[in-house]
Amino acid sequence: MIKVKDRKLLLLAGDGIGPEVVREVKKIIEWFNKNKSLDFKIEEGLVGGISYEKHKTPITDEVFYKALESEAVILGAVGGPKYDSLEFSKRPERALLKLRKELKLFANLRPAICFKQLVEASSLKPEIISGLDIMIVRELTGGIYFGEPRGIEPIENNERKGVNTHTYTTNEIQRVARVAFDLAKKRKNKVTSCEKSNVMEAGVLWREEVQSLRDKEYKKIDLEHMLADNCAMQLLRNPKQFDVIVTDNLFGDILSDEAAMLTGSLGLLPSASLGARDKNGKIRSMYEPVHGSAPDIAGKNIANPIATILSLSMALRYSLDLDKEANQLDKAVQSVLDDGLRTKDIMSKNKKEVSTSQMGDAIINYLS
Ligand code: IPM
Ligand code: MG
Repeated sequence: MIKVKDRKLLLLAGDGIGPEVVREVKKIIEWFNKNKSLDFKIEEGLVGGISYEKHKTPITDEVFYKALESEAVILGAVGGPKYDSLEFSKRPERALLKLRKELKLFANLRPAICFKQLVEASSLKPEIISGLDIMIVRELTGGIYFGEPRGIEPIENNERKGVNTHTYTTNEIQRVARVAFDLAKKRKNKVTSCEKSNVMEAGVLWREEVQSLRDKEYKKIDLEHMLADNCAMQLLRNPKQFDVIVTDNLFGDILSDEAAMLTGSLGLLPSASLGARDKNGKIRSMYEPVHGSAPDIAGKNIANPIATILSLSMALRYSLDLDKEANQLDKAVQSVLDDGLRTKDIMSKNKKEVSTSQMGDAIINYLS
């Protein structure tokens, strides 16, 4: 078997349930190393609130450089109520935003898939969501999250003004639209692009640039434009009309949470943040579960590790060229669900409740 030498994976567990779910991923990478002769070097680092507690910054330069040097980053979650009063630049979330921005991870892929074993867990009727398979592509390094000017400033009458700026350029729009079109080619050839072109100039530009790329290079793709508020409504009314949705940073943040919840199992959804391919064909990337740090259940060994485990599977597929291993891991997850094993968040009648670590062990068992 081929030895894959010097491939570095960086695990950033972060806060809340992050360390518990990332621990399971580490076990799985170690299993692959041991049994499949893969040779990933696992590195680890602190990020988020835990890094702030130790180093007074949400991410140190050392950890940031490790991220630059690794083939893929797998991140647990950052944040928690005890950091809410920190000044903006020290908040756990800044680490995440810095990694996204500086690694130039402009395309965020968030699949919303309804697992057949969990149809009943959704708050929507089974016929609306069974078989659901949407891919949301969220622009991740532009828009109002990063635009300048920004800040809070004093104005007359002892009042203050909060400012954020929403901007997009042709290139920023087209490079993320390209990712969406390329994904759609391997799916159902349909892309829905969402903006608010009825009120925002940047939305008009978004619509025009996506359309012009489609007309030039992706004539076979069925492209539809939808206002973002309508999209929020359509996602609840008839989610199966969508295949790939492409949208900006802010709308993507909101719509992807909504889509995730449709599936009834936030604890199962992974995500990938990808940069551009360099001339050697390598791509910078970071993988995270869609769920957050869930501080209320942290440290109890009850969190669902599947979203993070499936994030590893996305890393195997998109960054590491290991499709076979990715399929194997996906299948192991399906088998464990078929067997009726459930963590607390997806528990239902007649199923067997297991802890975080038991879920990880069961998945490894199937890999074997
Ligand atoms: C997400 C999160 C982040 C975001 C936060 C934690 C900064 O909500 O990844 O969707 O808003 O992008
Ligand atoms: Mg979000």
